[in-house]
Amino acid sequence: MQLGIGTAPGKVILFGEHAVVYGRPALAAPVVQVHARAVVEDRPAGSGLVIDALDLRRSIVLAQTGHPLALVTRLALDRLGLAEPDWRVSVRSTIPIASGLGSGAAVSAAVVRGLSQAAGVDLGPAEVDAIVYEVERLHHGTPSGVDNTVIAYGQPVYFVRGTPPQPFAIARPFTIAIGDTGKASPTKIAVGDVRSAWERDRERYEALFDRVAGVVGSARAAITQGRPEELGPLMDENQALLREIGVSSPELERLIAAARDAGATGAKLSGGGRGGNMIALVTPETAVAVAGSLRAAGAVRVIVTEVGRAGGDDA
Ligand code: MEV
Repeated sequence: MQLGIGTAPGKVILFGEHAVVYGRPALAAPVVQVHARAVVEDRPAGSGLVIDALDLRRSIVLAQTGHPLALVTRLALDRLGLAEPDWRVSVRSTIPIASGLGSGAAVSAAVVRGLSQAAGVDLGPAEVDAIVYEVERLHHGTPSGVDNTVIAYGQPVYFVRGTPPQPFAIARPFTIAIGDTGKASPTKIAVGDVRSAWERDRERYEALFDRVAGVVGSARAAITQGRPEELGPLMDENQALLREIGVSSPELERLIAAARDAGATGAKLSGGGRGGNMIALVTPETAVAVAGSLRAAGAVRVIVTEVGRAGGDDA
């Protein structure tokens, strides 16, 4: 019998990735066209709990404490005051792994929500957020917390590490195309490399992060004051800084150039970089041409989504 079901969207970082790990702000939004889902069912008495990662064709048990799915389940059960119920947790996700769309955090959030529904407890976004953050620490070492926050709250947020998330108002919705390079790139590696580079030359990296913070501030003003057309040049500026930070890649640059050639007014990588996804500012008029150009340049998946409005189209 089905006892509970939990879902969580993907996410996109609009501005500020990497610098956000060092205390600067970032802007991020949920992407509802992709999602993770966890279904909790009962099992025969005494059979314990099993987590079926259906996409990976793997079954995980609670004792596998180093596995993120076992960890998130353990943390959620502790919060719910349960030891080991006789449950099967089946997990599926349409969010590409290691692509900067928050697959790990979304899977964790879906599991926490599915388990809490099965237990008859209504955990609010702050509690889901806190549990998912613990798991993110295992995934990435030093996560800022932006991914789990935007996914747990399910709305666009202005995020500064260590402070309560600030959902932000979008005065005029705007459209972005999200292009997937198809090159998996674990966030942990990119974040670790940036840390090593920062340790070697703190002055330079702190100055780069400050410049990113300036871009994020301008982008926030443009979004909240209804001037989304300003976001294109700001994406280009953020991308130039990300290149200097050392997290772009030939695949990302190819997609960024293709988007610009087809009429996007700005583009940047999104998430950890080195591969994964990029975003481009488009209009309803340029979206189809940009999506086609991204595919022709090698994108394995393109999502066109309107930020500031629920829903969107999978192009
Ligand atoms: C990953 O989506 C965003 C990064 O800034 C890492 C983090 O914030 O933890 C690269």
